[in-house]
Amino acid sequence: MPDDYRVVVVSDIHYASEGEQARRGYEARVIQNWSQKLFVRLFRQFIWLKDPLGHNHLLDRFLAAAGAGDLVVVNGDYSCDSAFVGLSDDAAFASAQFVLGRLRERFADRLVAGFGDHELGKTSLFGGVGGLRLASWERSCGELGLEPFWRRELGPWVLLGVVSSLIALPVFGPDTLPAERAGWEALRAAHLARIREAFAGLRPDQRVVLFCHDPTAVPFLWREPEVRSRLDQLERTIIGHLHTPLILWKSRLLAGMPPIGFLGNSVRRMTTALNEARYWRNFKVTLCHSLAGCQLLKDGGFGELRLRADGTAAQWRVHPLPW
Ligand SMILES: [Fe+2]
Repeated sequence: MPDDYRVVVVSDIHYASEGEQARRGYEARVIQNWSQKLFVRLFRQFIWLKDPLGHNHLLDRFLAAAGAGDLVVVNGDYSCDSAFVGLSDDAAFASAQFVLGRLRERFADRLVAGFGDHELGKTSLFGGVGGLRLASWERSCGELGLEPFWRRELGPWVLLGVVSSLIALPVFGPDTLPAERAGWEALRAAHLARIREAFAGLRPDQRVVLFCHDPTAVPFLWREPEVRSRLDQLERTIIGHLHTPLILWKSRLLAGMPPIGFLGNSVRRMTTALNEARYWRNFKVTLCHSLAGCQLLKDGGFGELRLRADGTAAQWRVHPLPW
């Protein structure tokens, strides 16, 4: 038995295929209001990412720096989702397919590929374009082979991966098509049943690391008695989605703020998540940086989890990929 297990975690790769590269300016193009356009441009240029389609080279840098792992977990968001409808869009699918191909070639059966929110589609920040699509769900699970719910054991450690967008569907409901809403609800019910079963089936000596892309899902997990009663066995919850600790820090600061409903769906979605961010502490939320990080800090990288084989301790470390 080894002294410890090494788990490599990478999140929010946001690769851009040729088809996505051809859509430069995709975010601003769908915004009609000039002040919102200006806000997005300045936010992109100085804080978030000036060129979201310009960081493909970081995939190679990650592959070179990752080293060997007992497990390599991808915590979602493979493409740039430049059509806002997830992987039902051919260009976004090509991005995700390329990334998965490279990762599978390198890590083979040690790779676990989970879901982010962009695989399924996401309404644009302003402009209200796109949203979740069942066709993206089917293509992600089928053609691409992503695992909606996954479970792996490393000695006493149980690693579980879930789909945050399904769990937090009450928040994302308005981003679905009315004709598809019942389909999403059915997927959510089945997904929650598997999560309840997994937590209820834990042996008292087992410890859990949960992988959940978007922390918006965490308060919904808190409402599940089977999950809540096992939180003492939860070592931590590894999230992605926020890309940089700057946003995690800001989210903690704003935890509990009231939801804002009059500034559009994206603001409603984000403030609803912040309203419930106080529950994140119970789940010991740990952020896996995106590969690129943010423009302001250029703080991208990937994570490494060391799990002691006797189940007594876990250590998290960030490997920066400066640019
Ligand atoms: Fe992301």
